[in-house]
Amino acid sequence: MKRLVSIAAAALCLALTQAAAPAAADQAERVVVVKAGRLVDVVGARVLENQDIVIRNDRIVAVGPGAGASASAGAQVIDLSGATVLPGLIDSHVHLTSRADVHGLRRLTVSQPRAAIAGVANARATLMAGFTTVRNLGAPGFTDVALRDSINDGETVGPRMQVSGPTVSITGGHGDQNLLPPEYAETARGGGVANGPWAVRERVRENFKYGADLIKFTATGGVLSANTALDAQQFDIEEMRAIVQEAKLAGKRVATHAHGAAGIRAAIEAGVASVEHASFIDAEGIRLAVRNGTYLSMDVYVSDYILGEGERAGILPESLAKEREVGARQRENFTRALRAGAKIVFGTDAGVYPHGQNARQFAFMVRGGMTPMQAIRSATVSAADLMGWSDRVGAVSPGLYADLIAVTADPLADVRALETVGFVMKGGVVHRNEIPAR
Ligand code: ARG
Repeated sequence: MKRLVSIAAAALCLALTQAAAPAAADQAERVVVVKAGRLVDVVGARVLENQDIVIRNDRIVAVGPGAGASASAGAQVIDLSGATVLPGLIDSHVHLTSRADVHGLRRLTVSQPRAAIAGVANARATLMAGFTTVRNLGAPGFTDVALRDSINDGETVGPRMQVSGPTVSITGGHGDQNLLPPEYAETARGGGVANGPWAVRERVRENFKYGADLIKFTATGGVLSANTALDAQQFDIEEMRAIVQEAKLAGKRVATHAHGAAGIRAAIEAGVASVEHASFIDAEGIRLAVRNGTYLSMDVYVSDYILGEGERAGILPESLAKEREVGARQRENFTRALRAGAKIVFGTDAGVYPHGQNARQFAFMVRGGMTPMQAIRSATVSAADLMGWSDRVGAVSPGLYADLIAVTADPLADVRALETVGFVMKGGVVHRNEIPAR
């Protein structure tokens, strides 16, 4: 009986394969040719004209003038000959499960399930703005893991995500919940709080257990946390080394939040991959970053939002006061670090300000001394390198995912062109196209 069933099953299988063969071949060979009037070659730091980008399923297979000619007869052609095409942008510092209009005490009213649902809309807004990849740095309750997995399952529209899970922090640190008095001690404990080398290792292991791709820890106080000092180092070097080594055992990287100069130096010495904010970085910190190849992710736009809209969004007076100390100095130090040759990556802290407005930061980086090409590279090749994803995103090259954007104005003449993206493709799927065909 059993044998009979398996024979019948085999016959059915064969019949199905034969019947389905032509359709399956069509599916396996979804070929698209994008005709790019101009293509920003971020690897070569130049602009190429009249390029065909040939895409098979979710990957780029060929790039070059006339490359589309050899593509299969059934290929779909997307005419972007009147536009400038770039690789999908990468924001290396976002909080997709946070909302810009909910700050300070208001954040205490947001449950983790509610935050995860907010993430669905924020992920879409981010992708539609041309950001096809993000690093999500800090989310209580692993809402970031849930969002990433939902996007990867094709259930939610959003960018590719690397996520950190809850921020690892000292008690009372920038990643702790310091707004509630001690009688609420249990609820007021941030999910990633740990003290001492072995305790922080346990946190790191736990974050990986529940799906984190990398670790974020806080090396100093912050602007938006209550009762933390920007200059005060958080964790000593021994704890920082334990975090970095534990992550290394898992083959993962570490990002650190740091404003104050001492915390920045210690974190670089401990071997982090990136310093977020880096606001008060000093000459020695810059020297160390250059020597170790540590990326600086300086969110030089967000200050305008915090000081302009922050009060209405619920940001506490204490935080507004801290921002007045940070904003201008961070911008000066951005220029210093850039001139010294430090590696700078595009990271905005979107979530503090509205998702989808990520590209506003480009103009501030150019004002700080970058050429438009440098700013674009910081959000493509450099960010991909920081993430260890150079083999999948960050350039328009054969073998990488077909993550492309296009703009009608010239982003190399005025980088603000990137604030109005007219075409977005992620993994070969078009998510928006308002570029008029020529
Ligand atoms: N999340 C950061 C903090 O609370 C925001 C800092 C924003 N300010 C700035 N100038 N980058 O510390």
